[in-house]
Amino acid sequence: MKTAALSSRLFIVFTAVGTARALCLAGAAARGAPAKDRGEWKAPSRAARKPNPLPADAASVKAGKVVYIAECVDCHGRRGAGDGPGTKDLKSKVPPLTNADIWRQPDGALFWKISTGRGDMPGFEDMLGDEKRWQVLNYARATFAPRPTADAGADVAAQKQRPEAKR
Ligand code: HEC
Repeated sequence: MKTAALSSRLFIVFTAVGTARALCLAGAAARGAPAKDRGEWKAPSRAARKPNPLPADAASVKAGKVVYIAECVDCHGRRGAGDGPGTKDLKSKVPPLTNADIWRQPDGALFWKISTGRGDMPGFEDMLGDEKRWQVLNYARATFAPRPTADAGADVAAQKQRPEAKR
C-alpha cells in the first residue's frame, strides 16, 4: 500500500520535472529559430557621427578590396548581391549591398555596423583593426553604392524625403 502511494507521488514529481524540462527545451528552440523580421537596424547617433578618418582614395579602396574578398565575399558575394557561397548555411537572407538605402547612412553608422554586427552578420571589431574596417567600407561604398555619394550629409536630407525601404 505504502509503496503504491510513494510511487504515484514519485510519478507526479517526475512528470512535473519532465514538463519543466520540455518547456526549457522549447524555449531554447524558439531562441534558435530563424529571425523573420529583425526590424530596422539603426546605429546609435553618436556612432553615426564618427567621421571617416580615411579618404576614399585609390589606395584605401584597393586595400579595402583585399579585406572584402577575405572577409565579406563569403556572404555578400563579389558583386554585393548577397549570394556568396556561405549564405547556404545561414538562417537569414544577406541583403544586397547594392541597395541605395544602405549608402544613405553616414560612414560612421556603417563602420559601427561592420564593427558590431547583428544576427548572421558578424561583428568585425575583434577580427579587423580600425583601419581595415574603414578601408573595407570605402571599398564597399565605392563599389556598391548605386551612385556616388560624395556628401553623406546631403544624403541624410534625401533620406528624409523617401519612405524607409524594407530590409
Ligand atoms: C556570415 C555572413 C556575413 C559576413 C561574413 C559579412 N556579412 Fe555583412 N551582412 C550579413 C547579414 C546577414 C546582414 C543583414 C544583417 C541584419 O540586417 O540583421 C549583413 C548586412 C551588412 C550591411 C548592411 C547594413 C545595413 O545598414 O543594413 C553591410 C554594409 C555589411 N553587411 C557589410 C559587410 C562587410 C563590409 C563585411 C566584411 C568585413 C561583411 N558584411 C561580412 C552577413 C554577413
